[in-house]
Amino acid sequence: MNNPRILIVDDSITIRKSMITLLNPFNATIIEAKNGQEGFELAEAGNFDIILSDIEMPVMNGIEFCRRIKENPKTRNIPIVVVSSFDSGEDINLGFQVGAAAYITKDEAKELLYNTIKDILLKTSFKRERTILIVDDSISIRRIVQKGLERSGFQVLTAENGKEALYVLNKTLPDMILSDIDMPVMNGYKFCEAVRLKHELKKIPFMVMSANSDRGNMNRMIQQGAVAYICKPFNIDQLVIMVEKILSDQFLILLKEKERIDNERDLMIATIASLVTALEARDAYTRGHSEAVGEIISGMLKLTGASKTEVETAFIGGRLHDIGKIGIRDDILLKPGRLTEVEFAQIMKHPDIGAEILKSIPSLADTIPIVRYHHERMDGKGYPQGLKGSKIPVLARMTAVADTYHSLTSNRPYRKESNIENALQIIDDVKGIQLCPDCVSLFLDYIDKKGDNGTRLAGTLVNSFITTLDR
Ligand SMILES: [Fe+2]
Repeated sequence: MNNPRILIVDDSITIRKSMITLLNPFNATIIEAKNGQEGFELAEAGNFDIILSDIEMPVMNGIEFCRRIKENPKTRNIPIVVVSSFDSGEDINLGFQVGAAAYITKDEAKELLYNTIKDILLKTSFKRERTILIVDDSISIRRIVQKGLERSGFQVLTAENGKEALYVLNKTLPDMILSDIDMPVMNGYKFCEAVRLKHELKKIPFMVMSANSDRGNMNRMIQQGAVAYICKPFNIDQLVIMVEKILSDQFLILLKEKERIDNERDLMIATIASLVTALEARDAYTRGHSEAVGEIISGMLKLTGASKTEVETAFIGGRLHDIGKIGIRDDILLKPGRLTEVEFAQIMKHPDIGAEILKSIPSLADTIPIVRYHHERMDGKGYPQGLKGSKIPVLARMTAVADTYHSLTSNRPYRKESNIENALQIIDDVKGIQLCPDCVSLFLDYIDKKGDNGTRLAGTLVNSFITTLDR
């Protein structure tokens, strides 16, 4: 969590200052209160992410303060960490009973405070984003469970039976399902079975809450894929703890998976950077070209409201679009002037060579259309496949515009750079023939917003034009 808001409630200024020092790494906004009463007023008005509270304080002690915080709908979702000099089992129990999320003694604070708060902030932000679907025909059970889960910070959806739940699942994917077994219309067995059969639903943890405590029933549900079974009547706190445990286990798995993917991606981006550097080291003219194309197409895509992942894919794809040129001989790649037909046939292989290189890296699969099709033309006269119009993947059509623009405004061994105005004119002239008109409009929007248009001095007007011989 970035810049959390933390409230410290302690009557000792020395303790407050030492806690502020320990909290330094969070880059938090920290507000101080001298007692429970002052703390409660600040908490009600202050939108805090976490509260640290002492127990023994004048005016209102920490136990009463915690109780009030947890009773107030405005503040009850704020986690409280009790930091007290009391360390008996009785004190610790009392702290948890009044709703503390963690209890640490002042002696332990130096060692434990940072990690305790880090874990709680992580779990809280995780809970805020988690939705649980409760399926039960009893309105009172639905209400009790909903209240308990919401109090603990989860979002809740409800349904009266399996059929209604499947309808809810068509519209929203929750992070967990809590279902009764005996229900009218569609019972828990059939509902669980239907969930397990649907690809998009089968990974959602399914927990059973049932009055049926027969072991056979339990086994049947577990065999169907339920992750846990709780018998009615249950203690709501016990149920909430089970839900938290199941989700936090899943969260840790997801977190580890995310870390693994992030590491793999970082490594891959470093590999790409060295591949592109290796390619561009051979050819001074194209130095920085791939980076520029990546920046242009990711900038264009941002304007369409695309997701962060799509924008990132576009940037990586743009950087890699010419990677297949690694497989083209120097005497052809770097030849000044026009190429012979035979030589050009070699150049025309670079999109396929690039796509082949990337095929072995699964996390780069989405960039392959950019690499393979960036030389296709709207009129079907491009290469390697001669795809026409909308058959050309849209990211490749965008890359063609960016590639053309950046090539035209850079020096190449086979022609001199054009000024921006002239490049834009050429792009407009080939719109609909070579380049996708929608992508050209998007590109012009991008240039407008970026403020590049006409900012450079007029250079050499190119009398050449874009032909399929442009590389
Ligand atoms: Fe190319």
